[in-house]
Amino acid sequence: MLFLVLFTFLGVSDGYNFLLFFPIPGKSHSILGEAYVRHLTDAGHNVTYITPLLMKNPPALLRQIDVSHNADLLPGSIFDVQKFMSKELDLQEIQLLFPIMQELLRATLQSEQMQTFMHDPEEQYDAVIVEWLFTELGAGLSSVFNCPLIWSTSTEPHSGILELIDEPLNIAYTIYIWGRGYSLDLYSRLQHVWSVMKIKYYQWQGQDIDNEIFINSYKSAVESRGLKLPSYDEVKYNASLMLGNSHISSGDAHRLPQAYKMIGGYHIKDKIDPLPADLQKIMDETHEGVIYFSLGTMLKGTTMPNKTRNEIITFFGSLKQTVIWKYETPISNLPPNVHVVQWAPQPSILAHPNTVLFMTHGGLLSFFETLKFGVPIIGFPMFGDQFTNINRAQKKGFGKRFILGQEPLEKLFETVKDMIENPKYRERAKEFSLIFHDRPVSPGTELVHWVEHVVRSQGAPHLRSPALMVPWYQKCYLDLLSVILVLILIVAYLIRKLYTIFMSKSMVKKKTN
Ligand SMILES: *[C@@H]1O[C@H](CO)[C@@H](O)[C@H](O)[C@H]1NC(C)=O
Repeated sequence: MLFLVLFTFLGVSDGYNFLLFFPIPGKSHSILGEAYVRHLTDAGHNVTYITPLLMKNPPALLRQIDVSHNADLLPGSIFDVQKFMSKELDLQEIQLLFPIMQELLRATLQSEQMQTFMHDPEEQYDAVIVEWLFTELGAGLSSVFNCPLIWSTSTEPHSGILELIDEPLNIAYTIYIWGRGYSLDLYSRLQHVWSVMKIKYYQWQGQDIDNEIFINSYKSAVESRGLKLPSYDEVKYNASLMLGNSHISSGDAHRLPQAYKMIGGYHIKDKIDPLPADLQKIMDETHEGVIYFSLGTMLKGTTMPNKTRNEIITFFGSLKQTVIWKYETPISNLPPNVHVVQWAPQPSILAHPNTVLFMTHGGLLSFFETLKFGVPIIGFPMFGDQFTNINRAQKKGFGKRFILGQEPLEKLFETVKDMIENPKYRERAKEFSLIFHDRPVSPGTELVHWVEHVVRSQGAPHLRSPALMVPWYQKCYLDLLSVILVLILIVAYLIRKLYTIFMSKSMVKKKTN
């Protein structure tokens, strides 16, 4: 009765309470986080969203916790086009990301607002959804609130995350996390094994610090709630579910564990925002089609060398097509068919029937938008999963890859012309667009269903992979192998023993003869 009164008094909705932990100070990560907010609040749930980038126009069922101070920890110059072009910066060296993410999580979790939040006994959750990015330290929130853990991952599934809920894929034919490219020749495979060994070594090296951060971040809050903090390993391998920003239309047909669900494309709104009037006019009026050029939200186009920029502008000027270029500052003396915009509603541009080509860095959000609207792409991969994404688009036949700074610009210009003139790229893009759309339910519906399923089934233990219970030496049958070895040794010993006994007996016989 008291509870009833309390609930009515607090005006709690009958939805569940979800905690979303998206600590990465990057626009594309917040787009993914906000999409969770949108889908879950639309379904009537209460959401608390921990983020460094606060959502504008938050829905009524949302509460936000600002952890923006953590962004000060990331070196600002890290996303600089020039540095990628000169190879000064190589984020494909994945091991460099572990200490950065470790520090970011330490700063976020041990901040005053997070500690106050975790110590507040009023805070109760039915499940926590934690974004994975090269660290599992966020998993401890499930221990604080004594509720199921759900991972959210922003890329196609790979061994680095699948081993948290099942086991790694076979690296003989899959990329461990991501890479520049991959072929099955002996040298590539050797390189690959070497990079996996480096990653594993760095992970192993960071273990002690991880454990220390885990304890310092969570122990006090967990104990203040009368609970006991489990070990870091127990917690990080204990997720009920993993929701991946991936789909068969964008990725490869890997085998996947039951606890992994593909919800790629869930960030795209069903209703596309209208274009600003000037862009709408430009796009409607063209007869030759529109090329859209954008390097995404993280990389600033202004960090591109002037010479490269000018050559690209001259080339665009020579085309019949209209070009819309998303660029941070206005550019003077542009050819009449080239339009620079500081901000552009990307899905709305891609959705326009006149768009014939998308020139992109190849981030997965753009990738899904291009799939949704069936537009061919030229990718300029620079970091992260961009290489892997563009390689897949190239293999699927609706994309081409160009490495800025390492290939002559003439090659890029020829590729642009080829992709505009040759209809095969658009046809392939439309085929994969069909695959993107052809699902039983929309990705947003699926997201809500599985998250609710975890709460309804008390942590979905039925989805848990038995692989998590088997130690590595049993997976390689090393125990069986050792039993066989011991048996062989025993048999060999017995044969030897019998032989010597037999020999000595026959010797005795010979003598007596
Ligand atoms: C693992 O998850 C289940 C289901 O959410 C939960 O009941 C259990 O307490 C968790 N164990 C640890 C060690 O976190």
